[in-house]
Amino acid sequence: MSQNRQTPEIFNHPHRFIEGWYWLLRSQDLRVGKVKAVSFLGRNLAVYRTTQGQVIVMDAYCPHMGAHLAEGKVEGDSLRCFFHNWKFAADGYCLDIPCLKKPLPIKLQTWPVKEAYGLIWLWTGKEAQSSLPFVPELQQESVDAYVSKLFIKECHPNVVMVNAIDAHHFNTVHNFPIEIKFESQVINNNVITFNNITKGGKDSWLMNLIKPLYKEEGTYRMSYWYGSVGTVTLGPDFLHFYIMFALRMLENGKTEGATILITKARKGFLGWIFNRLILGITALVSNYFAKGDTQIFKTIKFNLKNPIWADQSIIEFIDHVENQRALMWGSWHPVNQNVECRI
Ligand code: FES
Ligand SMILES: [Fe+2]
Repeated sequence: MSQNRQTPEIFNHPHRFIEGWYWLLRSQDLRVGKVKAVSFLGRNLAVYRTTQGQVIVMDAYCPHMGAHLAEGKVEGDSLRCFFHNWKFAADGYCLDIPCLKKPLPIKLQTWPVKEAYGLIWLWTGKEAQSSLPFVPELQQESVDAYVSKLFIKECHPNVVMVNAIDAHHFNTVHNFPIEIKFESQVINNNVITFNNITKGGKDSWLMNLIKPLYKEEGTYRMSYWYGSVGTVTLGPDFLHFYIMFALRMLENGKTEGATILITKARKGFLGWIFNRLILGITALVSNYFAKGDTQIFKTIKFNLKNPIWADQSIIEFIDHVENQRALMWGSWHPVNQNVECRI
């Protein structure tokens, strides 16, 4: 980490974010042949679904005169501007200008897109440098996922994310009977995992009740991608529950998020029924975790002025965020940390 933890240069910054995959829209909110205007990390985008079902994302403003392309029409896998009917292909190249024999050699900026977990995701750079976020133990599996909730928080995505590894608040806010300890592992430059290694603990009725279900007491693991997407793995050894919190920054460093419930894909009608049940329980678990912190997120001005040993995981998270490639809100240019001032 190149700077003081109390004034990090990327973590919790209202105009900076890490290059990566971020959710853009729910898949169900973009129908075949439709185009939408989306304002995303300070950029205006036109997002459309081709008649073949593929999602294309381009910068919003027509290179002719600046009309918003979301006013236009999808034609096959292309998009035609409403104003003077210039047409753009899925790769952004101008294909047709009605009053000219040949189109001009103009290209709109397009962005890498993928669909997974019921969401459309965008990579905030010219070429995707890594895979979409996933639950580590489901990496090789096909999954069944359900977007259970979209939400807004009044604070920065990084601050929402660290809540899941804020060890001491599990006792104070969520009434956990034991002290939680995490062990971190940096998986790569964009991914860090925190594994609960708590052993023993007080003999509360709750721990006695769930003890037989666990090899280790309390399976609880968080994996973070770009400091903004977190996957939770928790539950007894024979049945883990998985939740993904996909966050992105809004103007003024606030958060727009999606809660995604995930389980292994299971075959047949019974598999489908079983998965509905599992995802239902996962929803209850995710509500339990979200409950209790809501008010804090409305008023917090995060500033870890006096860290103590119980804040160790948060410090590791901040360090990990600080070491990733940051881009600037709006331009998506890499941050030149010597030039831009924090406002
Ligand atoms: S502004 Fe789009 S074609 Fe003229
Ligand atoms: Fe919490």
